[in-house]
Amino acid sequence: MLKTLIFFGGLTCLSVNSQGLAIDFIKERADNSTYAVNDVIADKTSKERLHILCRTGSISNFVTFKYINLSKLSSNDSEQMLAVMQDVFSGKPGYQTPYLYPGSDITGIQALGSYNRTNPTIGISIPVSSLSCDNMIYQCQLSYEYDNWPTEPIVETQTNVSRNLTISDTCLGNMPEHNDYGKLVALITGVVVCTILVAALVTVLIRKRWNTLSNEQTNLRDNDTTLALASDFIDSSDKSV
Ligand SMILES: *[C@@H]1O[C@H](CO)[C@@H](O)[C@H](O)[C@H]1NC(C)=O
Ligand SMILES: *[C@@H]1O[C@H](CO)[C@@H](O)[C@H](O)[C@H]1NC(C)=O
Ligand SMILES: *[C@@H]1O[C@H](CO)[C@@H](O)[C@H](O)[C@H]1NC(C)=O
Ligand SMILES: *[C@@H]1O[C@H](CO)[C@@H](O)[C@H](O)[C@H]1NC(C)=O
Ligand SMILES: *[C@@H]1O[C@H](CO)[C@@H](O)[C@H](O)[C@H]1NC(C)=O
Ligand SMILES: *[C@@H]1O[C@H](CO)[C@@H](O)[C@H](O)[C@H]1NC(C)=O
Repeated sequence: MLKTLIFFGGLTCLSVNSQGLAIDFIKERADNSTYAVNDVIADKTSKERLHILCRTGSISNFVTFKYINLSKLSSNDSEQMLAVMQDVFSGKPGYQTPYLYPGSDITGIQALGSYNRTNPTIGISIPVSSLSCDNMIYQCQLSYEYDNWPTEPIVETQTNVSRNLTISDTCLGNMPEHNDYGKLVALITGVVVCTILVAALVTVLIRKRWNTLSNEQTNLRDNDTTLALASDFIDSSDKSV
C-alpha cells in the first residue's frame, strides 16, 4: 500500500496538481514575506520557515468537505500524520480548525490552514533549520461531497495528491553553486574546444577533397581534349580517304 502511494507520489511529483488538490511549498522570510519554492536547502542557520500547504482547487458542484489531511512519507516507508481538519462534528480533533498531530518531534512546528466549506486548506509550518537531509513525500487527502443532481443528489468521494520535497545536497557538505559554476565552465570550454577541433577537421577534409576533385577534373579535361583531337583526326582522315 505504502509502495503504491510512494509510486503515486513519484508520478505526480511533477504535475503537483491532482483532481482539485495541490501541495505548495512556501518559504517565509524573517519579515513574514513569502515566496514559492520547489526544493529547499537544509540550513541549520536559516531563520526562514517552510510552509507545506495543501489547498483545494476548483471542484465542480462542491457541497462540503468532510476532512482534509496532510501526512509525510519518509524514505524508509513510514507514514506520519501531520495535520487534519474536518467539517463533521464527530468528537475527533480538528473540527473546523487545523489540528496538529502530536509526536512529530519537530521544534516549533505549527498547524496551518483555513476553514471554508468548499475551499479548505491544511498544512504545517516548520523552521527550515529543523529539516534533515532526507527527501520527503508529502501527501494530502480530501474527503468531500458534491452535488450530482439529477443522477444522485449528493455523492461522497475522495481525492489525494503527493509531492516530493527535495532537500539539496548541501547537506553532504558540498557547495552546489560552486560545483555548478565549475561544471558550467567545463561544459562551455568543452563545447568551444570541440567546435574548433571539428571545424579544423572539416577544413582539412574539404581541402583534401577539393584537391582530389580538381586533379580529377584536370585529368578528365585532358582526356576529353585527347578524345576530341583523336576523333577530329579520324574524321579528317575518313574525308581524305
Ligand atoms: C524524490 O526526489 C529525489 C531527488 O530528485 C529523488 O532522488 C527521489 O527518487 C524522489 N522520490 C520519489 C518517490 O519520487
Ligand atoms: C510575523 O508574524 C508573526 C506571527 O504572525 C508576528 O508575531 C510578527 O510580529 C510578524 N513579524 C513582522 C516583521 O511582521
Ligand atoms: C487522512 O485520514 C484518513 C482517515 O483518518 C486516513 O485513512 C488517511 O490515511 C489520511 N491520509 C493522509 C494523507 O494523511
Ligand atoms: C523512519 O524514519 C523516521 C524519520 O525519518 C523515524 O522517526 C522512524 O523511526 C523510521 N522508522 C523506521 C522503521 O526505521
Ligand atoms: C470560501 O471559498 C469560496 C471559494 O473560493 C469563496 O467564494 C468564499 O467567499 C469563501 N468563504 C469564506 C467565508 O471565506
Ligand atoms: C489516491 O487517489 C487515487 C486516484 O484518485 C486512488 O486510486 C487512491 O486509492 C487514493 N489513495 C488514497 C489513500 O485514498
